[in-house]
Amino acid sequence: MKLDLTYDKLQPSQLYAINTMTRQMASIADEENILEIILNELMKETGAEVGAFIYYDKTYNRFDRRTIKTSDNQDPSKIEFSQTIFRKVLESKEAVLSFDTLADENYSKKRSVILNKIHAILAFPLIIKNEVYGILYFDSRKNRQSFNESSRQFLSFFAPIASLTLEQALNKKYVESENILLKNQLEQDVKIPAIIGESSAMQRLFILIAKVAKSDASVIISGENGTGKDLAANAIHDLSNRKDKPYIAQYIGNIPSTILESELFGYKKGAFTGADSDKIGLFEAVEGGTLFFDEIGDLNPELQAKLLRVLQNKEIKRLGENIIRKVNVRILAATNKDLAAMVREGTFRQDLYFRLNVINIVVPPLRERKSDIPLLIDHFLKKADVPSELRLSKSALNKLMNYSWPGNVRQLENILNRALILITNLIIEEENIQFDDIDSEKLDEYFSGTMEDMKNLLISQRIKAFSGNKTKAADSLKISLRSLQAKAKELGI
Ligand SMILES: Nc1ncnc2c1ncn2[C@@H]1O[C@H](COP(=O)(O)OP(=O)(O)O)[C@@H](O)[C@H]1O
Ligand SMILES: [Mg+2]
Repeated sequence: MKLDLTYDKLQPSQLYAINTMTRQMASIADEENILEIILNELMKETGAEVGAFIYYDKTYNRFDRRTIKTSDNQDPSKIEFSQTIFRKVLESKEAVLSFDTLADENYSKKRSVILNKIHAILAFPLIIKNEVYGILYFDSRKNRQSFNESSRQFLSFFAPIASLTLEQALNKKYVESENILLKNQLEQDVKIPAIIGESSAMQRLFILIAKVAKSDASVIISGENGTGKDLAANAIHDLSNRKDKPYIAQYIGNIPSTILESELFGYKKGAFTGADSDKIGLFEAVEGGTLFFDEIGDLNPELQAKLLRVLQNKEIKRLGENIIRKVNVRILAATNKDLAAMVREGTFRQDLYFRLNVINIVVPPLRERKSDIPLLIDHFLKKADVPSELRLSKSALNKLMNYSWPGNVRQLENILNRALILITNLIIEEENIQFDDIDSEKLDEYFSGTMEDMKNLLISQRIKAFSGNKTKAADSLKISLRSLQAKAKELGI
């Protein structure tokens, strides 16, 4: 049957049905519901007793009965369909209408048609991207009169709208499932066993670490003291293609530069007093692997220049030697300083900064991911090998949760270890948690805590300075003795 493009036989009720369906479909976004609306409305409009959506499985070239509706309580699983009609719709990509199936010699001999005494069949294709996605199928034994040229026009008019809506729903479903897939992949891939943390801040860090690991770029890992920068650097190496090659961490801060230089570059026998044999440096020892510089902000200007040359030329010279040696090493660096500010002040070379800072990873401070504290406590107690019955009292946990952790995870571990020395039974009590190592954080330009931490630090230092005389300490701070006492109690002093 040829599809004609005049719709002169459309009835007002049919137009009304189209209007109803399109409006409903527009507000609904999934395939099942859209097909449900179409089947219900079209069965109502055509008076069909059976309506079905038949999916065409292109891969296996077969038809799948997906949704079957019956108006007269027939068991949908018992309904038989004419494959001949499906094939015809598939090949012609056009609506097929048979007014009287028993009289139509094309179909009357088909077993299924005879069995069900079908009188009228109306089937039309849903076409998506120029291919038959499925077939909407209606048949009627009772109301064969209502299947006429008008209903065929009606379906021809409606089919493209239905197809388009369905296509949109399918696209959306596809995009959604792709997103879920991608997300799962990321979340699955990014488990870093050595770094404890399930907070969203740590999840983001893990994802970034995993991504960065795949490249060979230099990375600067910044973050406060004790946040886990060493662990992050190690994880980058472990997740990289260099994982089977060496990983060496070299601390820079306050190591005399002559020692550091010979460590890094190696030397020839006799290069300086005490160089009594040839020695290879770390750049060579780590060949093919990863070299991690901790506290890179402390590198002196001379070594900054030398490191820059290694990064630029990928070659080194041992001290006291003139042979140029090629090296293949990935550089990671960590700092708790603001390197960008140091560049502005002229204490860190800008060109080196740019070479190193291809990627910047920031490890978040513990106070921004307090939900990880219970996990970390578990982790450190296990690490300390305590009896499994050991518990933390609720108030002790509260005290840990409410603290602002200027020394981050390292401080948490220290404070737990100290608590373990102080406990008298298998429960860590509130009073076993003592934050006085806050003194170890100096009130200097690199103080990394909050205003509250600064206050706490000042109070505890002042009490110490006055050998525990709180009245004098309060006077010197120009605060009331009462508020100083309250703070001191909070801090366990
Ligand atoms: N997320 C974490 N999970 C487990 N241990 C951690 C975590 N973060 C830090 N640590 C531990 O705390 C200590 C300090 O970590 P480190 O990586 O040296 O910090 P940073 O280099 O930032 O000062 C180490 O003992 C480390 O194992
Ligand atoms: Mg460190």
